[in-house]
Amino acid sequence: MTNPAPKRILVLGATSGIAEACCRLWAERGDSLFLVARNSDRLAAVAADLRTRGASYIDSAVADLDDTAIHPELLAHAINSLAGLDIAFFALGVLGDQQKAERGFAEAGQILHTNLVAPASLLTWLANYCAQRHSGTLAVLSSVAGERGRKSNYVYGSSKAGLTAFVDGLRNRIDREGVRVMTIKPGPVKTAMTQSMKGSKKFADVEKVAVTLVTAIDKGTDVVYVPGIWRVIMTVIRAIPERVFKKLNL
Ligand SMILES: NC(=O)c1ccc[n+]([C@@H]2O[C@H](COP(=O)([O-])OP(=O)(O)OC[C@H]3O[C@@H](n4cnc5c(N)ncnc54)[C@H](OP(=O)(O)O)[C@@H]3O)[C@@H](O)[C@H]2O)c1
Repeated sequence: MTNPAPKRILVLGATSGIAEACCRLWAERGDSLFLVARNSDRLAAVAADLRTRGASYIDSAVADLDDTAIHPELLAHAINSLAGLDIAFFALGVLGDQQKAERGFAEAGQILHTNLVAPASLLTWLANYCAQRHSGTLAVLSSVAGERGRKSNYVYGSSKAGLTAFVDGLRNRIDREGVRVMTIKPGPVKTAMTQSMKGSKKFADVEKVAVTLVTAIDKGTDVVYVPGIWRVIMTVIRAIPERVFKKLNL
């Protein structure tokens, strides 16, 4: 991939399979990256790999992003290290254990916190930073799972539905300030998150997904379904009447 103007990119949840694949493309075209993840060994390995691929600058911070109190200082530090910000890429997320979440709220609360509360806190700070400067792209990985509650994963799905609404509303608020806010809705992708799922071998290839995302982020597309067929699939799924839907084993 060629890049006329190298970008300064903050990656939140940088050890995610989807983030790593995007970072490889960004590194290869010479962008600057600030990586945030909570597993220090994995983060060091990702950073070392991206250095060898040609990133013009790599810095990183180990952080548990569930801790919203650390967000302002962490984000200010990352932006200072990058000497500005062109793109913030949100890849943190947990699938969680749906059955455990049905038995007790602790698991459900954890899923909702990591997938919705923590990103909402990070987005609030970053949106204000970008709006003041009339620049920047906030690209957020939500999910097609947020488009309709299903019995097999409604806790994860509701966290993503909330995130989608938050990101959509934020775009409505600050697009006019010159800030691009992107809602990204992947269908199932082959990563660590999905490897134990039934049929995971047929899920989308993460490298192909990354090419689509990096291109869409350059354009600042409002809403991205990836692979694109999921826009059609979700239109059909949303159209199923509830009296039928509630009897399906989805
Ligand atoms: N794969 C799919 O099929 C799919 C489909 C739709 C949407 N998505 C969404 O896309 C994003 C990336 O997914 P992925 O498949 O690449 O997942 P992944 O490989 O499992 O990565 C998720 C990342 O989130 C990080 N994370 C979780 N909680 C965190 C916390 N409290 N603080 C910091 N980092 C935290 C994880 O770090 P640790 O390694 O330290 O846990 C991991 O690096 C997620 O938001 C996911 O919900 C994925």
